[in-house]
Amino acid sequence: MPAKLILEDKTIELPIFVGTEGEKAVDVTKLRAETGYVTLDSGYMDTGACTSAITFLDGEQGILKYRGYSIEEIAEKSNFIEASYLVIHGRLPKEDELKKFQAKIASYDDVPQGIKEMIKIFPKDAHPMGILSSNMSALSAYYPDLLVQDLSPEQKETVMAQLMGQLKVMAAYAYRHQQGKEYIKSDKNLDYCSDFIYMMTGNKNVDKEVAKALDILLVLHVDHEQNCSTSTVRMVGSSKANMFATISAGIDALWGPLHGGANQAVLEMLEEIKDSGKGYKDFLAEVKDKNSGSRLMGFGHRVYKNFDPRAKIIKVACDSVLAKLGVQDPLLDIAKGLEEVALKDEYFVSRKLYPNVDFYSGIIYRALGIPTNMFTVMFAMGRLPGWMAQWKEMVEQPGFKICRPRQIYVGETTNKYKDIKSR
Ligand code: CMC
Repeated sequence: MPAKLILEDKTIELPIFVGTEGEKAVDVTKLRAETGYVTLDSGYMDTGACTSAITFLDGEQGILKYRGYSIEEIAEKSNFIEASYLVIHGRLPKEDELKKFQAKIASYDDVPQGIKEMIKIFPKDAHPMGILSSNMSALSAYYPDLLVQDLSPEQKETVMAQLMGQLKVMAAYAYRHQQGKEYIKSDKNLDYCSDFIYMMTGNKNVDKEVAKALDILLVLHVDHEQNCSTSTVRMVGSSKANMFATISAGIDALWGPLHGGANQAVLEMLEEIKDSGKGYKDFLAEVKDKNSGSRLMGFGHRVYKNFDPRAKIIKVACDSVLAKLGVQDPLLDIAKGLEEVALKDEYFVSRKLYPNVDFYSGIIYRALGIPTNMFTVMFAMGRLPGWMAQWKEMVEQPGFKICRPRQIYVGETTNKYKDIKSR
């Protein structure tokens, strides 16, 4: 049954689109052509910008699936490289396919000399997300073959493996530069996470628990449908910009504190509570006051209105990682206390605000020895395969179009130009 829309003296029928998980949408693609009207939905609260077969989210039930597999099962049984293959290719790899994919990523174990030098020209206290996005964009200069408008299937495979390998290298190099230390060359024999930790710390005997904990965190960040950075990737990629520019834009969008930058902001918030000696109630009173301009970072989500399944997994992992490493972090106690009080507070309950993926992830990163301003970099490394899977899906979809929303103009209408002296 199509939807019926009465506009002025005309009734028009709009087709209903139903997804495989039962989500329903009113298809408005012909609305303007037939009526002259457009839809107005600031912040895209109710807009489905695309159809996608990669990730399913049910915010009311707290469900997250990659390609039909529940996040709980993937986090328990899979790993970052396999989950990346899954979102990119649409199915779990066979053994030889996984080995090939892994080896291809590992083969991109370095970056061009110019990129190494470019990282070094940044101030030591530069935020690594800025270093990453600039260098991701700069990589385009070294791979002219990959700048063509339409990449072949082989080129797509290559560039996706390349970026997974090289983002890791650039992230580790940015960290080493920040520390004023020499770069450490990647070791192909190590798994992805162990190699990253090795390149950051120089320790080749990476604790298996530490590498596994990092791997789970990356798995949980692999994709999250049309979030801000993924929508940015689709938007930029839709102009047929090259992959380097497209992913660089995704890194920038992720950096913001309302998105991926929240993991860093949570840690800073917990530290502030600890140092100021503020009680939870005082702190919550502050974030509830709209004039304060502060928020309870790591709480709330556009889609999840019950709980964030990733946060549940991370909270359990957090307890277990800290216990295994013998770390006692007062910030974990503050986070738990804050969560307990907030979840009983009418303000948070009525607005359906729950801990999100960023609330506990920073405490694990901290326990693993990763400094606070690298947290969002970890998110970017985790989200990269999702960005690329969404880009690939978009450019391969029949009827591919440049993304270009409309607006409703509300400015002045008939100004007349005045000479500068008479203004
Ligand atoms: N602390 C205090 N109040 C909040 C918070 C919060 N963290 N989040 C939402 N609210 C209030 C908000 O003030 C508004 O109140 P009212 O209805 O009285 O005006 C109401 O809840 C709805 O908030 P909103 O900003 O309209 O909701 P949104 O869907 O536009 O924003 C959000 C979602 C994630 C940006 C927001 O909840 C937020 O700023 N959270 C803190 C930052 C954060 O943790 N971000 C990470 C998101 S998960 C990882 C990722 O996707 O990157």
